[in-house]
Amino acid sequence: MQILVTGGMGYIGSHTVVELIQSGHEVIILDNLYNANIDVLDRIEKLTGVRPKFYEVDILDREGLERAFKENHFEAIIHFAGYKAVGESVRIPLTYYKNNISGSINLYEMMDKYHVDNIVFSSSATVYGDNFEVPFKEEYGQGDTTNPYGTTKKFNEIILSDFALANKDISVVNLRYFNPIGAHPSGLLGEDPKGIPNNLVPYIAKVATGELDHLNVFGDDYDTIDGTGVRDYIHVVDLAKAHLKAVEYACKHKGAEVINVGSGKGYSVLEVLHAYEKACGKTLKYEIHDRRPGDIATSYADTQKAKELLGFEVELGIDEMCRDSYNYMIHNLEDQKNR
Ligand code: NAD
Ligand code: UD1
Repeated sequence: MQILVTGGMGYIGSHTVVELIQSGHEVIILDNLYNANIDVLDRIEKLTGVRPKFYEVDILDREGLERAFKENHFEAIIHFAGYKAVGESVRIPLTYYKNNISGSINLYEMMDKYHVDNIVFSSSATVYGDNFEVPFKEEYGQGDTTNPYGTTKKFNEIILSDFALANKDISVVNLRYFNPIGAHPSGLLGEDPKGIPNNLVPYIAKVATGELDHLNVFGDDYDTIDGTGVRDYIHVVDLAKAHLKAVEYACKHKGAEVINVGSGKGYSVLEVLHAYEKACGKTLKYEIHDRRPGDIATSYADTQKAKELLGFEVELGIDEMCRDSYNYMIHNLEDQKNR
């Protein structure tokens, strides 16, 4: 089927595009390249033998968006486009609400106008907040978000559910991702944020390549296995495969569903650090610091619903996640040297 992928040049989007093409779907990417490089298109072509049609368009640009809807016949949409930095969202909330909410509403209005009925949305486990016991179950609903980024995810889930409630043809799958890490095993796609990374694995990756000296561990006094924060990490290729199943599910059903996408297993900060040491064959330095404001002790998914509705289970573990992350970093450094 013909699928529009907004944000398809980004980290999770590009991996999903590869899985979709490899399963025989026709993909059209729409991305404003705010947080992505045009080279990704060459890399997708190298991996799949197909160069997807690409619109360099901002979802805030209604005319540009409409052009993509007029020129194609999308059967479904996977909506990744958005800003995602938690700290930045606290500093510039209006920019986040405009991009992630107003931009998304533009997209949903086009769906309505051009009768595109099926959508998969990138939500986040952050919508559970600090209100519930692990494992987090979809039936808990939404907790209290602690930053504007999280609130944009919460609002989008609500907007899409209301849209489906009012329009019986619409099918929505809100995927709540836990912590995506890793990279494509080819080393061609991955994530290497500019500047100092906020998230754990991108930070460890830079310690492993020598770009940063040591990891700052945010708190060792949580009620967890070793006192450090526990999260549910999922390989980005597994997450991409979950999108393939979710979009196929959306096309066969009506109404709105919320589905967790995680491994169901939690790892502490130090466990991840040690797995990365194994992957890169080096000892990595770390220092214990105070807790990071807004962090919770433990987060991991109840994965039953993903199994039941999508037939989805993860295939890759923490060692593969760290191996592929490091492989991508090494590839990337070589690429930069050759430029
Ligand atoms: P990313 O930044 O790599 O990808 C997002 C893409 O959207 C980028 O290519 C960017 O250029 C594009 N984009 C941003 N604003 C746009 C706009 N106005 N118009 C068109 N394109 C725009 O991020 P990612 O990690 O791949 O995340 C994808 C989605 O998943 C995001 O919505 C993010 O909030 C959500 N999510 C990510 C994580 C995570 O840990 N990475 C966790 C939960 C949810
Ligand atoms: C963070 C965001 C969350 C977002 C998710 C994915 C916050 C409070 N939460 O989640 O909203 O959906 O990223 O983008 O920012 N850690 C360190 N040192 C570091 C970095 C992290 O010890 O340099 C620890 C953290 O305290 C946490 C764990 O590593 O215990 C994972 O952190 P991170 O990768 O930032 O993910 P989340 O906190 O789960």
